[in-house]
Amino acid sequence: MENKRIVMGSDHAGYNLKLKVKAHLEARGFEVMDVGTHTTDSCNYTVYADALCKAIAAGEADLGILVCGTGIGMSMAANKHAGIRAACCSDTFSARLTREHNDANVLVMPGRFVTNTVADRILKKYFKTPFEGGRHARRIEKIPCC
Ligand code: RB5
Repeated sequence: MENKRIVMGSDHAGYNLKLKVKAHLEARGFEVMDVGTHTTDSCNYTVYADALCKAIAAGEADLGILVCGTGIGMSMAANKHAGIRAACCSDTFSARLTREHNDANVLVMPGRFVTNTVADRILKKYFKTPFEGGRHARRIEKIPCC
């Protein structure tokens, strides 16, 4: 996945982790677009989930990374968009399996529950794991709007 363009978004609760992840990705040479939020002021996560999904739908990015407090609200909002398969991961096992089985194109992390170190491990696993296809592709095709 080394050539992928990445779009990131967070709310206030995910802002600090988003900055860490963004710096880590840029240091690895990825092109990263940040749709906000750009402060720790309280805001609505839906705004940034929507902006990120629209960027992917418009072909401006290949993969998205969202961070909110729990990762749950962002996942719910992102998964309402056609073509988006967002997975909330707080461990490396889920990060691997959501690539292999679900071809997740948006990784969501809980800013309040993962450390920077764990987030780095999740990220590395997510990026290095390919989609398996086959029976998993048939299953994804049955998810509405995926
Ligand atoms: C914000 O307090 C929090 O509700 C939000 O970050 C997220 O966890 C929602 O699911």
